[in-house]
Amino acid sequence: VGKAANGIADDLLSTSLMATRAPLIFVPSMNVNMFRNPVNQTNLQTLRDYGFHVMQPATGFLACGYDGEGKLPEPEDILEFCERVAASKDLEGETVLITAGPTREDIDPVRYISNYSSGKMGFAIAKAAWQRGARVLLVHGPSAEKVPYGVEPSAVTSAQQMHDKVMELLPEATIVIKAAAVADYRPADPAEQKLKKEKGLLEGVSLVPNPDILAAVGQKKEDRLLVGFAAETDDLRANAQRKLETKNLDLIVANDVSRTDAGFNVDQNAAVLLDRDGGIEELPLQSKTEMAHAVLSRVARFRADG
Ligand code: PMT
Repeated sequence: VGKAANGIADDLLSTSLMATRAPLIFVPSMNVNMFRNPVNQTNLQTLRDYGFHVMQPATGFLACGYDGEGKLPEPEDILEFCERVAASKDLEGETVLITAGPTREDIDPVRYISNYSSGKMGFAIAKAAWQRGARVLLVHGPSAEKVPYGVEPSAVTSAQQMHDKVMELLPEATIVIKAAAVADYRPADPAEQKLKKEKGLLEGVSLVPNPDILAAVGQKKEDRLLVGFAAETDDLRANAQRKLETKNLDLIVANDVSRTDAGFNVDQNAAVLLDRDGGIEELPLQSKTEMAHAVLSRVARFRADG
């Protein structure tokens, strides 16, 4: 770091750094005090000022025995950082608020109502949006997916919690993408004790509607770009078109969730994109990463067209 920041080229590596025209990515990893040393911090800033990319080290137990900043990030995170450097930055300057995964609505302390959403689609969009230069706020329900590097997560459980978090973050967002599968109803009065099989459960659980988060965002849309998803088993286009209009959306991604090879809890998806101007784009079966980029390309084109 010190050599690169000061133009010292006295071995193969430092000479190559001086000679290359490729993008340079530094992943500093060292003792915490060494990392925080103002000389090192000044050198890192010098590298940034020259237009090189510097990744923030991870925090944790260091090989030297200290605890703190200076850990080499996970290889997967380094790869995601490199992918961001290589990607086109058509979402630079945008703050994208994304929802992902299911919500869970408690019946009692051991049972809940939910759905088959895994979070894969929403997390893929979050990762792709960050790579394309955006700041990304990810509000997600229970999911086994890894939060992508660089993304700012908020974990929630119920639809009401998701609603409250989305409304709290909304003022910061310029684009909102709602890929979450929100439970439409919740038990009116979740029991504090486990309901007995014979009594309680058999008497039935009465439900009340959850807030429609997307519709609430649609009412406070202002100049934000608003993208919804629709999970349909029949009349895909007609149902999605109705949601596009009633929820005040710019774009809707209509999934046919009756397919077993696409939609919930698989790595692929197939959809139709319907936009506010009547545009229709078929997205045939593809990976959720490819679909995330296809949706974001449409979003970026909207932005470019004003
Ligand atoms: O998570 P995966 O396993 O990867 O699966 C991805 C997916 C199939 C869940 C995803 O691609 C998808 O279709 N998400 C939307 C599912 C859904 O709730 O669809 P819907 O048609 O019921 O709702 C329409 C839109 O309103 C959605 O953007 C939804 O987030 C939103 N909504 C719905 C109800 C509610 N109370 N609040 C909402 O904001």
